[in-house]
Amino acid sequence: MTRVFDDDLSAGFGTRAIHAGQRPDPLAGAIMTPVYLTSTYVQDALGEHKGYEYARGKNPTREAFERNVAALENGRHGFAFASGMGCLDSLMKLFRSGDHVICAENVYGGTFRLFDRVLQHFGMSFSYVDTRYADRVADAVRPNTRAILVETPTNPLMRITDLDAVGTIARKAGALFIVDNTFSSPYFQRPFEFGADVVYHSTTKYLNGHSDMIGGVAVVKDDELAARLQFIQNAAGAVAGPFDAWLALRGTKTLHLRMRQHDANGRRVADWLVEQVGAERVFYAGLSTHPQHELAKKQMSGFGGMISVELDTRERAAHVLGRAKVFSLAESLGGVESLISHPASMTHASVPPEIRARLGITDGLIRLSCGVEEPEDLLEDLERAFAEIPALGRRESASKRRAEASAAD
Ligand SMILES: Cc1ncc(COP(=O)(O)O)c(C=O)c1O
Repeated sequence: MTRVFDDDLSAGFGTRAIHAGQRPDPLAGAIMTPVYLTSTYVQDALGEHKGYEYARGKNPTREAFERNVAALENGRHGFAFASGMGCLDSLMKLFRSGDHVICAENVYGGTFRLFDRVLQHFGMSFSYVDTRYADRVADAVRPNTRAILVETPTNPLMRITDLDAVGTIARKAGALFIVDNTFSSPYFQRPFEFGADVVYHSTTKYLNGHSDMIGGVAVVKDDELAARLQFIQNAAGAVAGPFDAWLALRGTKTLHLRMRQHDANGRRVADWLVEQVGAERVFYAGLSTHPQHELAKKQMSGFGGMISVELDTRERAAHVLGRAKVFSLAESLGGVESLISHPASMTHASVPPEIRARLGITDGLIRLSCGVEEPEDLLEDLERAFAEIPALGRRESASKRRAEASAAD
């Protein structure tokens, strides 16, 4: 099992980011963990080996990355997978037919797709709940509830779940509390401090941070849970390849530096957007006008670079998406370069239109992933993109529509 090196845990975040999980290579002292491009390991004699038998089970490059992220999350065991979805799929193999999972209703579209279009057919059931309201989570608990899964802030509406409150509900229900921490990264939010049992990421995003690989990672604290997950990781085999693990390991070395700049740029861009379109159209947990800003401050130490903006119509969204240049029009997020996207037709296209409408993922909603470029260039780009945008009407606000929609739930 890939367990953190305990002495890594006494270092501060930036030091862990650079060193945790890594030791000079025993052969030559290489300071960078080598990419162990091997599928198998030669054994000294029958039953005598160095702890490595076959690379699906263990790979030293992958192990270094797993230990690194486990240390960043303040967890104990890390498990790296071929993608964020591969990671979630393997996590779901902790459960079985007949089990029930409560899932935040506004999650990454692919999470919903995996549950609704694949795992349901294996006899698992899912309830989608607005986890901003802890009482609704408690009401959704059934005798066979085995997990509560949340993403906070959510993709793309930046809703916040009270980790402490939902963690308490999960413990009472005897269910695992699983948190997708992709949007915050462990630099800004560490869900284990609020009672999570499993924290996972799409490493494709902030952890790797350079948009040059796809990956996922899960971290747990409990040894018995780790043993079950290790069994699944090897049995199901959706493991991260050594080169992807190495890229992500190089990425996490600068996580703290990048996150500070994502956050600084995110705040500048959010303030600028508020001036252009009004606070009620800008979704960013760092804004004092965000309805859950106080809760966000309680469990996050910064807010990163993810911002969504309601522009009311697809035409206005297309106007901005078509004119931005430094913000490239592309799916994904969390890289050093800024991206801009249209959740309804891109990341959340797999969510049925009626559910999108109820959640507030409208055709006028755009999502920005602020990179770490110079903030002035980002603002200049947005000024160009927003120039001559058809006038926005008085806001019969999406937040009001959303409030009405959720009151009608
Ligand atoms: C919050 C979140 N979780 C999970 C995933 C899935 O990760 P991957 O694309 O690496 O499979 C994504 C992808 O966009 C995401 O945004």
